[in-house]
Amino acid sequence: MDDDLEKIETTLLLEGIFRRYGYDFRKYSYASIRRRIWHRIHLEGLPNVSCLQEKVLHDPEVFKRLLGDLVIPVTEMYRDPEMFLSFRRDIVPHLRKLPFVRIWHAGCSTGEEVHSLAILLEEEGLLDQSRIYATDINENALEIAKDGIIPIDRMKQYTKNYQAAGGGRSFSDYYDSDNGGVRIKPHLRRNIVFARHNLVTDSSFNEFHVILCRNVMIYFNNQLRDQVHRLFYESLAHEGILIVGAKESISFTPMSDRYETFNDRNRIFRKMR
Ligand SMILES: C[S@@+](CC[C@H](N)C(=O)[O-])C[C@H]1O[C@@H](n2cnc3c(N)ncnc32)[C@H](O)[C@@H]1O
Repeated sequence: MDDDLEKIETTLLLEGIFRRYGYDFRKYSYASIRRRIWHRIHLEGLPNVSCLQEKVLHDPEVFKRLLGDLVIPVTEMYRDPEMFLSFRRDIVPHLRKLPFVRIWHAGCSTGEEVHSLAILLEEEGLLDQSRIYATDINENALEIAKDGIIPIDRMKQYTKNYQAAGGGRSFSDYYDSDNGGVRIKPHLRRNIVFARHNLVTDSSFNEFHVILCRNVMIYFNNQLRDQVHRLFYESLAHEGILIVGAKESISFTPMSDRYETFNDRNRIFRKMR
């Protein structure tokens, strides 16, 4: 009974957020959303979801704090290095045949994966004929991404990831020291467009040869995941490549039979129909 009541309260909170602020978390996975909401309830010193709802609706600052909990910005450079290795070896040769390459990096967070890809394309001589559209719902994360700032304490791990992803140069050639942190060199960002885009409420905005959406749909329920897969299918060119996260799959989505598996281990699929 208490569980039922909490579900009602959560539904009302998410409905309120959508109506008041336009952010739609109504079809995110309940278990994950519930954890995040309780995290915020404890931090605000509140007794239950309804009290959080009251605060969120009346105080945009409380909403901002909750929003920070609901969007999970965790990312890293060359996350799953083997996927980037496969991109370099197996996908780049196909991209070379195109006069211009459009890539959509959906749910790019603070941009670490986007910068990883830009470095890879630069090394393969493809950056000038490519444009990476990097989007996220989280404006704070996008600001960090636009500045190309990376926490310095991560660079040792990222250098290892870069090498495991097939990078053969000195990784430090790609960034400058900046105020105790590091900043990706501006020339590597010349063909990246960062923009706010909500996968739940916004539509497609171009036709792409590659779409990467990794570790984003794991927070969605099945209905929303299927909706976003339809959006990606409609946004991909014929024989376009879709890359999802290491623990994700396109099986059991309505679009699964429209793709062939390009590289199962690295969750790379190619649109065939
Ligand atoms: C865990 S991060 C993954 C970042 C990166 N793709 C990676 O795998 O390292 C999930 C990202 O998805 C974004 N996100 C969540 N819901 C979204 C939505 N509806 N539309 C666009 N981005 C969303 C979050 O803001 C967050 O930056």
